[in-house]
Amino acid sequence: MIIAVDGPAASGKGTLSRRLASLYGLKHLDTGALYRGVAWLMLKRDLDPRDADQATEVARNFDPEALGSAELRTPTVGRGASLVAVHEGVRSALFDFQRNFGLTPPGAVLDGRDIGTVIFPDATVKFFITASPEERARRRYEELRVQDPSVTYESTLEELRRRDERDQSRAEAPLKPAADAEIIDTSKLTPDEVLARASRLV
Ligand code: C5P
Repeated sequence: MIIAVDGPAASGKGTLSRRLASLYGLKHLDTGALYRGVAWLMLKRDLDPRDADQATEVARNFDPEALGSAELRTPTVGRGASLVAVHEGVRSALFDFQRNFGLTPPGAVLDGRDIGTVIFPDATVKFFITASPEERARRRYEELRVQDPSVTYESTLEELRRRDERDQSRAEAPLKPAADAEIIDTSKLTPDEVLARASRLV
């Protein structure tokens, strides 16, 4: 069984994916962490995430150690991830890893931007998880301000909008719901309500 969970940043797709994986005894892959890992490796080596050739090289020789970095969740790395994610070479370098992860028993929940459209167009079940930009910014801001008291709600909202725009307008695997995805707007739902709705479909 493959469950595809796509959606924009801070929509609640990570929370839902972890809970679905534990409910059904499946593995879970946060595919955003792969793009974040490539960005983190580049920034650490003083490389520019906009450089397609260098980004592709780093993705081809991806060092899984990058996934353990505490800096993966920072706004700087998130922005870098959306910059490396536009390169076709980066996306194809990460394709096999995601396919193999899903196809290895007992099956998996994968969350990202293009799981139901590109990586697993044949997924058993597909969800597109979304919420209003204001609600997503509020959630992200609550997370970020614990580590960094200087962040503001306004700057968080602005950064989210910029990242949505880049993810939706790129040529390769743009963020959009698969035609057969079940769309869930989590703006006014609790994590339990989202899980209940999703698991009914599964
Ligand atoms: O989900 P997360 O915020 O960690 O993703 C970081 C960035 O990685 C996204 O903004 C997007 O540009 C990219 N990404 C992607 N395809 C995926 C997962 C993430 O392009 N499947």
